[in-house]
Amino acid sequence: MPGWILLFIDTVYSLINLHPFQYKQSHTAMAPSAVETITVPVPAQPLEVKPSYRGIYKEIAPLKYDKDSELKGKEGYEAAKYPHYLPTWNPEQRYGPLEPFQHVEHGLDADPSYPNLLPDGVSVNHLTPTIGTEVKGIQLSSLSNAGKDELARLVAERKVVAFRDQDFAELPIEKALEFGGYFGRHHIHPTSGTPEGFPEIHLVHRGAGDKTSDAYFANRTSSVAWHSDVSYEQQPPGTTFLYILDKPETGGDTLFVDAVEAYNRLSPLFQERLHGLKATHSGIEQVAAAVARGSINRRDPVVNEHPIIRTHPVTGEKALYVNPQFTRDIVGLKKEESDALLKFLYDHLAYGADFQARVKWAEGTVVVWDNRVTQHSALIDWKNGQRRHLARITPQAERPFETPFKQ
Ligand code: SIN
Repeated sequence: MPGWILLFIDTVYSLINLHPFQYKQSHTAMAPSAVETITVPVPAQPLEVKPSYRGIYKEIAPLKYDKDSELKGKEGYEAAKYPHYLPTWNPEQRYGPLEPFQHVEHGLDADPSYPNLLPDGVSVNHLTPTIGTEVKGIQLSSLSNAGKDELARLVAERKVVAFRDQDFAELPIEKALEFGGYFGRHHIHPTSGTPEGFPEIHLVHRGAGDKTSDAYFANRTSSVAWHSDVSYEQQPPGTTFLYILDKPETGGDTLFVDAVEAYNRLSPLFQERLHGLKATHSGIEQVAAAVARGSINRRDPVVNEHPIIRTHPVTGEKALYVNPQFTRDIVGLKKEESDALLKFLYDHLAYGADFQARVKWAEGTVVVWDNRVTQHSALIDWKNGQRRHLARITPQAERPFETPFKQ
């Protein structure tokens, strides 16, 4: 096909993607495939970090571990339960820039009475009034497509849902990815460890006996690092899955904040002032931190501008969309103005214990959140050197958009 036709199709798709309310795709025709990222070998380049982008990125994930001990166990610690999920960093994985794609939002097709996801007999327990639900008695891996549509909608409404007693970690990794691929194109993380051969899985791993948090706390008072995953991408993730493989006896919970309720708590006057503003989100520091520690860089980092108030395509709710890990500046404001406004918004999100939920992991738990309307932070609070090991599937969604302020 001639290049100009491809360019034209791309442009039309990205325009459509900016206006998800005005365009609804026939889902049968456009089911996203498991992996659509174009893989192009790109020579490694030295990474320049502009001073204004150094920011406050906080890196707490270890990049090395003792693989032998993880495989065999060591004194006081069992071997890893899921060795095929141990992290690898393959320097040969170099990818070209992410291309725009048309996101299909399945939550729009869901039956709001949830007949497939929450039939009679399934237990549903809301953790707080606005955010967080615990569900028992349904197996995600057995959901029909109608059930998956309902899952996307439930998660958009409740922001984060913990599904207990799942078989997800037992599935072949291909099957887990096939399931996640229904919700959008798989994101491949620029720096994180991944299971061998599966760069679409992002791993969170602290091996048994790991002491890196001691070094971390020598200089920092808290491990809390609120963020919305990879918000620097032009099309950041939507419905996102994190499942536990190995956990400490207690601790290592994940904290979530409801960015819709955070928006709703602001005065109408302040909300109105925020509408129309955009902020830059940068992936530079994350890559720079990895490269500085001798790790890999799968893709050159990007900086994108997104609206500060983002609308959810299914619920129509508005959410604050700035986070201290990746947001840098408010476009058009002077530095002091931008810093002060961002600090207020970060503090507002972080102090809002009355619109946050804390998810405790248990064996078999799969946590699903809507990354468009929440932020989260791992809590590195356990002190016994026990292993914490999780896998994340991170389907990308639409380019963030905003709808006008309404009182
Ligand atoms: C993440 O930031 O996606 C992982 C959260 C966690 O480790 O609890």
